[in-house]
Amino acid sequence: MYLNNAATSYPKPEEVYHAVIDCMRNIGVSVGRGSGSQFVEAEKIIYEARTLVASLFGIKDASRVIFTYNATHALNLAIKGFLKGGEHVITTSVEHNAVWRPLKHLERTKGIEITVIQCDSYGKLKVSDVERHIRKETKLIVMTHASNVIGTILPVEEVGELARRYGIPLLVDAAQTAGTVPIDVEEMNIDMLAFTGHKGLLGPQGIGGLYVREGIDLEPLIHGGTGSHSHLEEQPPTMPEKHEAGTLNLPAIAGLKAAVDFLMQHGVERIREHEVTLTQTLLRELKKIERVRVYGTTDARERVGVVSFNIDGVKPSEVAMMLENGFGIIVRYGLHCAPMAHRTIGTFNTGTVRVSVGPFNTEEDIFALVKAVQEICEIA
Ligand SMILES: Cc1ncc(COP(=O)(O)O)c(C=O)c1O
Repeated sequence: MYLNNAATSYPKPEEVYHAVIDCMRNIGVSVGRGSGSQFVEAEKIIYEARTLVASLFGIKDASRVIFTYNATHALNLAIKGFLKGGEHVITTSVEHNAVWRPLKHLERTKGIEITVIQCDSYGKLKVSDVERHIRKETKLIVMTHASNVIGTILPVEEVGELARRYGIPLLVDAAQTAGTVPIDVEEMNIDMLAFTGHKGLLGPQGIGGLYVREGIDLEPLIHGGTGSHSHLEEQPPTMPEKHEAGTLNLPAIAGLKAAVDFLMQHGVERIREHEVTLTQTLLRELKKIERVRVYGTTDARERVGVVSFNIDGVKPSEVAMMLENGFGIIVRYGLHCAPMAHRTIGTFNTGTVRVSVGPFNTEEDIFALVKAVQEICEIA
């Protein structure tokens, strides 16, 4: 039983497997690197995938969606492509290393200054704390939409409103929310949105993206062939080619297209309702077990389907091993690439066991997990 959807979602919708295989078997070309009907088909897939992603996030101009390998690549492009050096940046204390490491790199190499807004022990962020730290030199606010450790959803819309008022661009890491929580970049005042294809979007690994609002011009992270404007010595200035050097991952884009199609047919709101129900059950049942400590808010509406917990006196690695070996349940333990979030909830030294649900999990899965945790508490 798979309860590690925050790492990558599994299984994928059947349509995704079919789309990847069909693309590899029957199209098989590199877009922009030849001519003929298969190339036209390949271009169509990319165009449709980009358009679908844009409409999922309320993006008006699909050419502002850049395909990347994953959210990490997208965040690196946004952070390193936007900041020139010496600027002040605001972020939060629950960021993933995909945000934190590029920032720390720029702090060392380009002298940027980082202010980390402390979230409380439930992972909640106060918008007034963000406002208090805005300065004349603040050039960017970068924040996750939901913590991949605590599950807490951060008030992106309110921070977006604040950022807009001060004329500061807002970059959002939607790795844990794209496909599981409705996102509209216009309504939420998001200037840049980084997403990954293989988690809530239900697509394959190796594809993600970055939305960049018109008016924001990023320095490319990677330079090289785009299959167009080959006479130019520099990257073409047009979007999205400027940021898509090198052969695109066509099979993954075909899979992502099928996945987003699936999501739009089933509705992100419906998937969200399902995950909230499972998470509420999980929180309620885990709380009943005496030796179990659950982190974060008890209201499933305030979080994504990610729940971290610990069993008093048992290492998270042992709990995860027992769940897998004794009960066939796959979860993740440790620091989850987000040490700051663990410092925020006081688990930096130990880490946690993280359970994360997906659209194909059921209430039975949750009760099986809870029963397994009860049994581990009895024997360990
Ligand atoms: C909050 C958050 N940001 C960024 C990432 C990075 O995603 P990817 O590994 O797909 O680049 C993850 C994935 O674990 C995440 O949970």
